[in-house]
Amino acid sequence: MPGTIGILGGTGQLGSGLALRLGQAGYKIIIGSRSKENAEKAVEKLKTENPGLNFDLAGTDNKSAAGEADLVILTVHYEHLVDLLAQLKSEIAGKIVVSTINPLTFAGGKAGLLPVEANSVAELIQQHLPEAKVTAAFNTISAALLSDTTKILDEDILVAGDDKAARAEVAGLVNAIPGLKGVEAGPLRYAKVLEEMILLIISLNRLHKAQTGFRVTGI
Ligand SMILES: NC(=O)c1ccc[n+]([C@@H]2O[C@H](COP(=O)([O-])OP(=O)(O)OC[C@H]3O[C@@H](n4cnc5c(N)ncnc54)[C@H](OP(=O)(O)O)[C@@H]3O)[C@@H](O)[C@H]2O)c1
Repeated sequence: MPGTIGILGGTGQLGSGLALRLGQAGYKIIIGSRSKENAEKAVEKLKTENPGLNFDLAGTDNKSAAGEADLVILTVHYEHLVDLLAQLKSEIAGKIVVSTINPLTFAGGKAGLLPVEANSVAELIQQHLPEAKVTAAFNTISAALLSDTTKILDEDILVAGDDKAARAEVAGLVNAIPGLKGVEAGPLRYAKVLEEMILLIISLNRLHKAQTGFRVTGI
């Protein structure tokens, strides 16, 4: 079990939701931001909005968060990814990296996918960080659901990755959050499917006026 999780771009919706749920699950959380001050403000906001938080939660700049963490979760938008990775190569080398990033765009008022300079965003990360153990996970969960700790979670999180031990560790991380089940989905190339599923989720949410998620049956 990794002791400390660094969430880069953790001041945003998904990062904050993951910080809450993973912190409650017993991990030490460091929220990363482009600005240490913003990260500290995000920590204070989470504490104010969730009185009684009793886990180790800190905020700092992305580089320090990556350096101090045992495992790094990336929760920035695709457009900002490559610049961020360029600053973090040495901090992340050898560590497990979890990409939550879907190359989503609402250009033209319609949900679609941005072109990615690799088969998937997660594989692009692996190309930029050859020494990291890159996985994809949390691509299909709603940040709003994660952030509202009064809501009971009830869905599966598919985990793709080439390093089997890293993939299993990330599935374990998911399992530590009550209501979520980590399901290993196969090698990193399947991250493409996980990233594209966001379009289906958006359609399901609109049609059914709900926050939908996925459940794998038969295992
Ligand atoms: N929202 C969801 O329900 C959801 C679900 C599944 C996956 N995801 C994925 O999670 C990622 C984040 O989504 P989100 O909704 O949490 O977005 P968000 O609320 O906009 O947060 C993204 C964070 O990225 C940072 N950022 C902004 N511009 C940046 C730049 N130029 N360089 C580096 N960092 C920058 C910001 O932090 P600072 O300003 O503090 O640096 C911001 O808090 C996306 O890739 C998305 O596909 C989201």
